[in-house]
Amino acid sequence: MNSATGSSRPAAVIVLAAGEGTRMKSATPKVLHRIGGRTLLGHAIAAARSVGPEHLAVVVRHERDLVAAHVAEVDPAAVIADQDEIKGTGRATECALAALPEGLEGTILVTYGDVPLLDGATLHALVEEHAATQSAVTVITAHLDNPTGYGRILRGASGDVEGIVEQKDATPDQHAITEINSGIYAFDAQVLQQALGKVGTDNAQGEKYLTDVLSIARASGGRVSAHLIEDLWQTEGVNDRVQLARLGKELNRRITERWMREGVTIVDPDTTWVDADVAIGRDTTILPGTQLHGATTIGERVTVGPDTTLTDTEVGDGAEVKRSEAILAVIGPEARVGPFSYLRAGTELGARGKIGGFVETKNATIGEGAKVPHLTYAGDVTIEEGANIGAGTIFANYDGVGKHHTTVGRYSFVGSNSVLVAPVTIADGAYVGAGSAVTGDVDPGQIAVARGRQRNIDGWVAAARAGTKTAAAAEAASTRHTDASSEGRAEA
Ligand code: UD1
Ligand code: CA
Repeated sequence: MNSATGSSRPAAVIVLAAGEGTRMKSATPKVLHRIGGRTLLGHAIAAARSVGPEHLAVVVRHERDLVAAHVAEVDPAAVIADQDEIKGTGRATECALAALPEGLEGTILVTYGDVPLLDGATLHALVEEHAATQSAVTVITAHLDNPTGYGRILRGASGDVEGIVEQKDATPDQHAITEINSGIYAFDAQVLQQALGKVGTDNAQGEKYLTDVLSIARASGGRVSAHLIEDLWQTEGVNDRVQLARLGKELNRRITERWMREGVTIVDPDTTWVDADVAIGRDTTILPGTQLHGATTIGERVTVGPDTTLTDTEVGDGAEVKRSEAILAVIGPEARVGPFSYLRAGTELGARGKIGGFVETKNATIGEGAKVPHLTYAGDVTIEEGANIGAGTIFANYDGVGKHHTTVGRYSFVGSNSVLVAPVTIADGAYVGAGSAVTGDVDPGQIAVARGRQRNIDGWVAAARAGTKTAAAAEAASTRHTDASSEGRAEA
């Protein structure tokens, strides 16, 4: 037993994920549905990994290729074990052992791919208790008000665990037992191997039950223990989309609570959604209606929200992101974003930079202190330090065939309502006059004015709009103008 080695590192964790999950009514395999930004299976694998097993196996069958591909993506070191046509959790475990190196010694854990809230701390406690009690099997159990559907824990007169009986095989007396089998266990590797060989299929479902290992281990003199837990969420599996939402909400409650305890202000945890892999710095404030997805990382003293969605985005210390959406973007320290900004992939905003209202950016590097404050599309651009982009500027990056790049140099100014037709380079310290359509490069110190020259035609209103209120207003104004000029002349 592993207590002999003094190490609590399990030899293996086996994650069962071969079941069908028909109640999801989905083309996606059940274990690939997501909560908290990870698949159900992803959560199970993360918990399994956190106890540091030498081997990790995932048992697959239903939609085998999709599930196996996902495992390869989230945990390339995991072993894929295919379950054959023989049904049951016992058979699934046997198939995993066949895929792992022969003759494993020490502790083997079994968990489920559809139980996403089971955490590493609970698995760790299971391993410790299993070692401390020198048990052959330790099973996680819980007391449920309504135990219907679960396997029941059978205890002898002394309170010792003697076995598990499935709902469908139980007597009316056994149905009254409220202590249930979570399906999560620690086994002595050799006991598990030997006992599985003796498990048959003579039961109500004609399946090879893993639960039968407990009574078999006990019959051959092994000790069987229960690790009773109070946190019922940790043993709850997902069978349909109602449970998916319920567990997703509870997971989010746990994640937001953890960040609040780490020093993050979350004004309304009920409307704030934070994925499992997000990181948030101290004294950051998250305002209502905010979603932080994927690998998003938020620095310290940041304000995010309200109503902001950040996906795989990095936000530097002291920045402010208000009513905006960003994906695969980097927002520098002390930078300002929003309200109503849309930062697409490849946006990098420098320290103290600004992306303001109704601005869309894509593949845009915006330097320190540079500002794109209003109503702009900036795609495929480099806007260098301190440059200022006027309201309504369009970086026209697409000519219908290819995308082209535009650069605006240091401390340059682009006047409002300009179009910069890429590829074009505005040098450092240059200006573009408002309303320009710029198609050629501008050198340092120059101003480019690329628009029709203004022409004023005297008397046009009187001639072309005679009798209108506009003509009357023009008439009145020109009289005042004449009076004012003659007074001026009189004083001189
Ligand atoms: C199982 C337990 C039951 C326990 C319950 C907890 C057995 C015989 N029964 O019942 O005591 O209370 O879990 O939820 O173990 N799986 C496979 N291959 C299979 C069958 C199942 O990989 O052939 C996987 C499923 O994908 C799932 C897990 O094992 O992740 C449990 O399967 P499920 O059919 O839900 O088991 P239950 O009958 O509910
Ligand atoms: Ca189940």
